[in-house]
Amino acid sequence: MEIKYQLKPAAERRSEQFCPEGNVGFGRLRTDHMFMMDYYDGEWRDPRIVPYGPFEMAPGAMALHYGQSIFEGAKAFMHEDGEIYTFRLNKNAERMNRSADIVCIPNIDEAMQLKAINALIDVDRLWFPMQDGACLYIRPFIFATEDRLSVSPANRYTFCVVMSPSGAYYGESLNAIRLLISKEFHRAVSGGTGASKAAGNYAASLRAGKAAVAHGASQVLYLDSTNEYIEEAGAMNHFHILKDGTVIIPEFTDTILKSITSQSIIELAPLLGCDVRQEQIKLDDFIAGVESGEIIEAGGFGTAAVVSPVGSYIFEDGRVVTVGDGKVGEHVSRIYRIFTEIQKGHRQGPQGWVCKVPRLEKA
Ligand code: PLP
Ligand code: COI
Repeated sequence: MEIKYQLKPAAERRSEQFCPEGNVGFGRLRTDHMFMMDYYDGEWRDPRIVPYGPFEMAPGAMALHYGQSIFEGAKAFMHEDGEIYTFRLNKNAERMNRSADIVCIPNIDEAMQLKAINALIDVDRLWFPMQDGACLYIRPFIFATEDRLSVSPANRYTFCVVMSPSGAYYGESLNAIRLLISKEFHRAVSGGTGASKAAGNYAASLRAGKAAVAHGASQVLYLDSTNEYIEEAGAMNHFHILKDGTVIIPEFTDTILKSITSQSIIELAPLLGCDVRQEQIKLDDFIAGVESGEIIEAGGFGTAAVVSPVGSYIFEDGRVVTVGDGKVGEHVSRIYRIFTEIQKGHRQGPQGWVCKVPRLEKA
């Protein structure tokens, strides 16, 4: 399908490369344009790039009532040749369709998703923020627009992509965070939507997030609904590292989002020089391992933060368990450095992980 361009007048859009003064932060800014495409009568139609702005939507749109809405999160980086490169965007497109299946949204051809995002980045390439550690954060999402109040899959949807020029997630160095181990709140149950990036999963996490903050923690370590196994760390996959450097990530189940960062770390094991494996992790075994010193580092993997080291855990009764000396460890630092070097093009990664955004003729 050909993409139509309805661009802002030249005088109203960015005309030179974005060179912000301070760190622009994560997710605050938007570029000049967005991509849109609609689904009705059984097909995705009318792909277009339009000025970023509000939608017109019926108050009865089913996304607003029954939450049929999913999203993705990806990043693009500028390499030393001045070109922009996406990072493993094909994996996001694939996962978008997996999420779509889980909440009964029609799939979008992966090649079309990539074409849409590449075209949008190309149009707004001057929005790439020229500062150390910066990226274009890409947020594709799909939501039900049909105006109907019965509970069944909608017949009309919109696919939209917006972008946020974002600064380095960490300042000078990585920071270790504290996680609340919650036995009260759960993110997902087997047979539910936990393995999708369904908007409702994030709404369901807010109450637990508030409890974490009340305990002086920044995120929640979610357990499975029996409170026996470790699942996720906020909007990240959890991991821990043994004394011998082995990285352990919980096995992907239908209650855990299949993180592209985690999958990348698994594939990078030979380059990282350590074993990376997945297993079901009992909370009790994990805590015993931290206390005995068998587990020396821990953290979360995810697109936004890449690697977020965890320095300590707090239980709901106030008991604190510290990992190692509570500071950022050398394994986590090495993983972060190697991974971000690949993203930025400073180090060769596996074939096809970084893809140059083509410069297109705009029809
Ligand atoms: N788990 C959840 C619940 C998430 O929202 C995310 C973020 O996307 C992740 C894990 C990490 O996934 P990824 O590495 O693909 O960003
Ligand atoms: C990401 O890491 O890209 C995510 O989607 C997490 C998000 C909820 C900020």
